[in-house]
Amino acid sequence: MKAAFIRETGAPSVIQFADVPDPVPGPTEVLVKVGAVSVNPIDTYIRAGAVAMISKFPYIIGADLAGTVESVGSEVKRFKAGDRVWGSNQGLFGRRGTFSELAAVDERWLYPTPARETDAEAAAGALVGLTAHVGLFLHANLAPGEVVFVNGGAGGVGSAVVQLAKAAGAFVITTAGSETSLAICKQLGADLVLDYNSHNLDDQIRAFSLPHGGVHLWFETQREPTLDRTVSAMAPRGRIVLMAGRAARPEFPVGPFYVKDLRIIGFAIFNGAPEEQRAAADKLNTLYEFNRWKPQVGKTMPLSEAAAAHQLQEDATVKRLGNLHGKIVLIPE
Ligand SMILES: NC(=O)c1ccc[n+]([C@@H]2O[C@H](COP(=O)([O-])OP(=O)(O)OC[C@H]3O[C@@H](n4cnc5c(N)ncnc54)[C@H](OP(=O)(O)O)[C@@H]3O)[C@@H](O)[C@H]2O)c1
Repeated sequence: MKAAFIRETGAPSVIQFADVPDPVPGPTEVLVKVGAVSVNPIDTYIRAGAVAMISKFPYIIGADLAGTVESVGSEVKRFKAGDRVWGSNQGLFGRRGTFSELAAVDERWLYPTPARETDAEAAAGALVGLTAHVGLFLHANLAPGEVVFVNGGAGGVGSAVVQLAKAAGAFVITTAGSETSLAICKQLGADLVLDYNSHNLDDQIRAFSLPHGGVHLWFETQREPTLDRTVSAMAPRGRIVLMAGRAARPEFPVGPFYVKDLRIIGFAIFNGAPEEQRAAADKLNTLYEFNRWKPQVGKTMPLSEAAAAHQLQEDATVKRLGNLHGKIVLIPE
């Protein structure tokens, strides 16, 4: 089969696209004919060597996938040939990556794809949808009627947080930086969409949230959190979710933080147990059926262009260049 893989870490150009042996599924694994994969920022950190997750080379890149079951191992119980499936969290902790024509994935990491959801959508929503769901509900216990602030609502994670928080009955404030991103956030259902470059951004957040007591849940998707601003916007007993910015060392307002009984919650989706992620995946599937969750496909490319896709993702998330709206999805030809 064809696959995108690396033999060493480095720039996107280390990604090769060539023939590799077909994977042979173990007893608990499902062999998936891959219909679509998507790129996440973590894929680029792993490829660059910034996150040490590779146990051996050649390493097939990629965490997310969607496709159709080709065959199943002898102990697989939940799937059979012909089923459509999606999943995430591959290419980590010794698991093979997904950027290939065939992928052998343990059934614990796979979920059924809703009948009318395309493989491109299912792959696009995989890691970001799970991250938003696990962050909002498992870790931060979002309740209906609370005010959620999402920094970067048109992004991969942000666009999922906006939709899932709205579906849960929250009031959602979010930010974006261009006309297109502002329009996307409105279309996703946010109650208040603000330009993150606005000079009176914090006043606008306060004007909306104070009648509700302040921001109950701040979901920070940016790599440099501004905790002075965040803490001052929070309602008593509010929760601040931090999930990006490994190198960030922000100033921290201790007094204002503890006198409001605030909590900071950090998490990484790849630490989640398969059962926790499956519970989130089931909820995402139901929300998709009810038109409350729609993964955002931004750009579709052939799998052979994996190196260009990594460059695009890195430019957008790390260098903040370019004009990426929605997820990058790659399709095996
Ligand atoms: N902990 C975990 O489990 C986990 C899981 C997934 C991702 N992550 C991390 O979360 C981060 C976001 O990932 P992603 O996939 O959502 O990235 P992404 O799709 O590139 O989204 C980034 C968003 O940030 C927005 N943005 C840029 N500058 C901003 C600013 N000054 N203020 C507010 N928003 C700004 C952009 O908005 P515009 O388009 O409007 O400019 C864009 O929508 C990455 O660092 C990633 O590694 C962590």
